[in-house]
Amino acid sequence: DAKALQVAVVGTGYVGLGTAVMLAYLGHHVTGVDVDQAKIDMLTRGELPIYEPYLDELLRESAPRLRWTTDYASAIPNADVIFICVGTPPLPSGQPNLAYVAEAAQSIARHLNGKVQVVVNKSTVPIGTGDWVARILEENAVDYHANRYLVVSNPEFLREGTALHDSLYPDRIVLGSDSPEAIERMAELYEPLLSQDFAAPVSVPRPDCYTQPALVKTSLSSAEMIKYAANAFLALKISFANEIAGLCERVDADIQEVTRGIGYDQRIGPHFLGAGAGWGGSCFGKDTAALISIGHEYGYEMPILAAAIEINQRQRQLVIAKLQQHLHRLKGKRVAVLGMAFKPNTDDLRDAPAHDCIARLIELGAQVVAHDPIAMPRARHEWRHLRYQEAESAEAALRGADAAILMTEWDDYRRIDWESALRGMRHPLVIDTRRVIGHFGGAGIVEQIGKRPASRVAEVTA
Ligand code: UDX
Repeated sequence: DAKALQVAVVGTGYVGLGTAVMLAYLGHHVTGVDVDQAKIDMLTRGELPIYEPYLDELLRESAPRLRWTTDYASAIPNADVIFICVGTPPLPSGQPNLAYVAEAAQSIARHLNGKVQVVVNKSTVPIGTGDWVARILEENAVDYHANRYLVVSNPEFLREGTALHDSLYPDRIVLGSDSPEAIERMAELYEPLLSQDFAAPVSVPRPDCYTQPALVKTSLSSAEMIKYAANAFLALKISFANEIAGLCERVDADIQEVTRGIGYDQRIGPHFLGAGAGWGGSCFGKDTAALISIGHEYGYEMPILAAAIEINQRQRQLVIAKLQQHLHRLKGKRVAVLGMAFKPNTDDLRDAPAHDCIARLIELGAQVVAHDPIAMPRARHEWRHLRYQEAESAEAALRGADAAILMTEWDDYRRIDWESALRGMRHPLVIDTRRVIGHFGGAGIVEQIGKRPASRVAEVTA
């Protein structure tokens, strides 16, 4: 049996919570630390501050090995491994704000126990931050022992909405450190995930295409670079598909057929070629901007990334342009926006393309009726600066609308009876940015990205 380690996880956001719950499931004893008392109280009561599929179930399954506290003193001295999972929100310059990482490292340093302890950076941080964290530990530790506080970069690749699948069944585990001892302890921590007979939790079924994760051991800075390079590459795959989609519309090709045709080439792969309103979320925008800004610090230009960002911005405008082609003036028009979260199965609204779309519609004088199956309560608070109306259902949003824009591919929207919904609209026009509407035989206009506008959309063969 794998050895149970004592683990502290600092920061209980998406990454911290997922990491804490997953490690507790693996058999380790985990203490989650956060400065936010309200969050800790919620977690202690067994409630979750965010929505993430399976998190609730796995939390319950692992509860005996999980503890939550605001007190570093009760979490750090005992821990064999300490994870830093705090946020690194972008500064106006595009560089990530490392204030929370610094604060966490200082608080950790004050409670280190003088024995060998591994401090792991899971937050996405610029290359070189690991060394900087090591210096903070050295400067703030009460009783500093060189070679005892070992820093590791263990980047996180989980996606919101599938966070627990991604942490339980990862493609790879990247461990970057200049200390072989630290890497060894981390490999011990992840041992159950790497072993042949890993017993998957009942609550999070193993995916069909499961393969055992690769263990990638690197230097500290390579691991830090891997995280950025992975996100930047995924972002540019999407922007590439969006660029080709624009040309498809003009030459009467269909981007979905094109990406399917190129995706079978194993050198390209089928994933992250989905054209639409562009990428959003907390990572791609932040990490592409951060890489460019890191490059600038070294006098190095990154034109491919700059273009990927530019295409992403253009893509968000395209949705409005398509609407204007049909409705001309948007002033006074009632526009339904379906989907607010940046992607399905999350209530996360960070950098959601729907935000820019709603803001622009309001600016142009349209009356916006928005709906999202999960994110509406969060939007009520986070988007309170936007003057839109909420609809109790997608159907209610569509009723009497002059047009609709489908922004997020929630399954609920696939189940809408589109023929009857379009009949109930004042002007039956849907800009379907996510290819949700398949066979459509009724009257009305369904416009999709990367396909020549047509009044009827035939079934898209999967
Ligand atoms: C991403 C990375 O995938 C993950 O590995 C990393 O740890 C964090 O950042 P996340 O932001 O949660 O995860 O979502 P993801 O599923 O990657 O989607 C990001 C954005 O790209 C979404 O707005 C999504 O709608 C968009 N997207 C994705 C596309 O437009 N087309 C695609 O083909 C795929």
